[in-house]
Amino acid sequence: DIESRVNALLEQMTLQEKIGQMNQLSPFGGLEEMAGFIREGNVGSLLNLTDPELVNKAQRIAVEESHLGIPLLMSRDVIHGYKTIFPIPLGQAATFNPQLVEDGARVAAVEASADGIRWTFAPMIDISRDPRWGRIAESCGEDPYLSSVMGVAMVKGFQGDSLNNPTAVAACAKHFVGYGASEGGRDYNSTFIPERQLRNVYFPPFEAAAKAGCATFMTSFNDNDGIPSTGNSFILKDVLRGEWNYDGLVVTDWASSAEMISHGFCKDEKEAAMKSVNAGIDMEMVSGTFIRNLEELVKEKKVSEAAIDEAVRNILRLKFRLGLFDNPYVDTDQQVKYAPTHLAKAKEAAEQSVILLKNDRETLPFTDKIRTLAVIGPLADAAHDQMGTWVFDGEKEHTQTILAALTEMYGDKVRIIYEPGLGYSRDKHTAGIAKAVNAAMRADAVLVCAGEESILSGEAHSLADLHLQGAQSELIASLAKIGKPLVTVVMAGRPLTIGQEVEQSDAVLYAFHPGTMGGPALADLLFGKTVPSGKTPVTFPKMVGQIPVYYAHNNTGRPASRQETLIDDIPQEAGQTSLGCTSFYMDAGFDPLFPFGYGLSYTTFGYDNLQLATNQLAVDGTLEISFDLTNTGKYEGTEVVQLYVQDKAGSITRPVKELKGFRRIPLKQGETKTVSFSLPVEELAFWNIDRQRVVEPGEFNLWVGPNSAEGLQTTFTVK
Ligand code: IFM
Repeated sequence: DIESRVNALLEQMTLQEKIGQMNQLSPFGGLEEMAGFIREGNVGSLLNLTDPELVNKAQRIAVEESHLGIPLLMSRDVIHGYKTIFPIPLGQAATFNPQLVEDGARVAAVEASADGIRWTFAPMIDISRDPRWGRIAESCGEDPYLSSVMGVAMVKGFQGDSLNNPTAVAACAKHFVGYGASEGGRDYNSTFIPERQLRNVYFPPFEAAAKAGCATFMTSFNDNDGIPSTGNSFILKDVLRGEWNYDGLVVTDWASSAEMISHGFCKDEKEAAMKSVNAGIDMEMVSGTFIRNLEELVKEKKVSEAAIDEAVRNILRLKFRLGLFDNPYVDTDQQVKYAPTHLAKAKEAAEQSVILLKNDRETLPFTDKIRTLAVIGPLADAAHDQMGTWVFDGEKEHTQTILAALTEMYGDKVRIIYEPGLGYSRDKHTAGIAKAVNAAMRADAVLVCAGEESILSGEAHSLADLHLQGAQSELIASLAKIGKPLVTVVMAGRPLTIGQEVEQSDAVLYAFHPGTMGGPALADLLFGKTVPSGKTPVTFPKMVGQIPVYYAHNNTGRPASRQETLIDDIPQEAGQTSLGCTSFYMDAGFDPLFPFGYGLSYTTFGYDNLQLATNQLAVDGTLEISFDLTNTGKYEGTEVVQLYVQDKAGSITRPVKELKGFRRIPLKQGETKTVSFSLPVEELAFWNIDRQRVVEPGEFNLWVGPNSAEGLQTTFTVK
């Protein structure tokens, strides 16, 4: 079995070879420079080698020319597709369709493994409640439950049925942990998350990934309460290994071992290596502190050889699980990139990721009354930017933009006049706006494609201002004045503060960055061949000052009340009059721009007849919930129904609502279905005042509905 093969190999290894396995390098200087290292057994894994010929060449050196012939583990950031690019993960989360997300990750794995990549650094399952943070794009949004479900789906998709299959790519749950809470949304910043919140909010997606067999974990860049994750034995040893019994591989983030010096947590590289390994790190990404210092640290007994053996076991175990010892090389003749089935899956994912935020007077879908359509805006033909962040391998030549797709798919139905108005999203030159307005005046309807270039989100791309960049707001305002039906499509890596543009538009589709097939997906949505079904995976703030704003907040002792006075209603001579004493902003009110879970359809849905099989349950019981969902509108469509629960009183204060389930329900026009959920009571457990994960008996509120702010409500009691 694998464990005995691991141990047998370990016995033959010198200390230096063991430390070599713990070293991951990125061959920026080319393979030649690295060949010697590999041959001497000083490298366990390579990052960013994507030419299958080179992959095999490097592998041949490791397997045929090094002392023990241990194969290399080839890795790459394959985040939302390899060649065929899927919507950014935040967009994928908006599908609320885990099967589709799993299928997308499978496509990515098939394409990446064909180039010899057997390890990806995804899924990113950091709870992200701050859209200023550029990496929110790469996350599944603000909710622990949604992120857990989507993270598990990605793990399953990347890894397939068995890691041993040559198309399996080991997944990596990252970034452990708390990175999404970086102060002020500034990337890499500190976090201050107490243990209870770590356990109730930030750990769940990681625990779910570990339980789903996610092969690897990556530590995060942030220091939480003063301890950088890469040197945090509480999260790595006590929780991950101790409580979750994890036997996978733990890697640092890029140079995050050495960065503990900048954090002021280590005085030098040697101490960084020591603290990393003693905290439970197995492999170091690129900074080389292990390879340069561990041998000496072992001699000085500052790091035990047993700790090194444990790390190497975790690495070798994965290499055996991936079948690399038996089958180290990649077949260089595979033709799988951009396969028609992959493109079709990417289109389906893009379709389901798009959120209809507004649709006044049934502006959408376009009918045959629209003979001429003005297509405007910097994102209408943005082959590179619509792919979004973290795209190293997808080629823009394969991207189908909205303009191209509309022309090709609907060009016989509608005359298209294309006038971008602005060159790119940050373009401040307003000279082109007049031409765009002129084009709009000659059309029956106006489609403006606005948003963010891909460079504006992602790692190290945080923003303090979430308005549309450049002169885009001016462009939309000018188009709105004409009075033609105005449809705005937004492509972005995060929720933007687009209240004004939503107001000015008749219909708004939020597409995040939809990937290679975003154009065809949007074209079919605009013309009603498909009906929108995406829901917001994160709360959309009205303004940056509202952040953090998320639905699962605590109630406070003075919850916001709609009776309070807003700034515009305060009389000039208000004096010391009380404006109400609740928790709200006078200038922003109580609500976000759009709540979590929100999204419209071309049709409408009615919720009715909510029933519980019983409303008195034991802690080991299961809540059986049912309700009727009716398609009350004019189109066949799919509704994402959502189940929320509130623990009314606990030993610690509890969120006002927590998502506990969701399902996509397709319905024909006029059709009614009885929808049911089974919710094991144990899923109501939380880390309580006694530092125990338990269900506390008491009363609960329960809602089923179309988003986190609406729905049918009932109560139940756990005895
Ligand atoms: O996987 C990434 C990580 O998310 C951020 N830093 C670099 C790593 C490897 O590219």
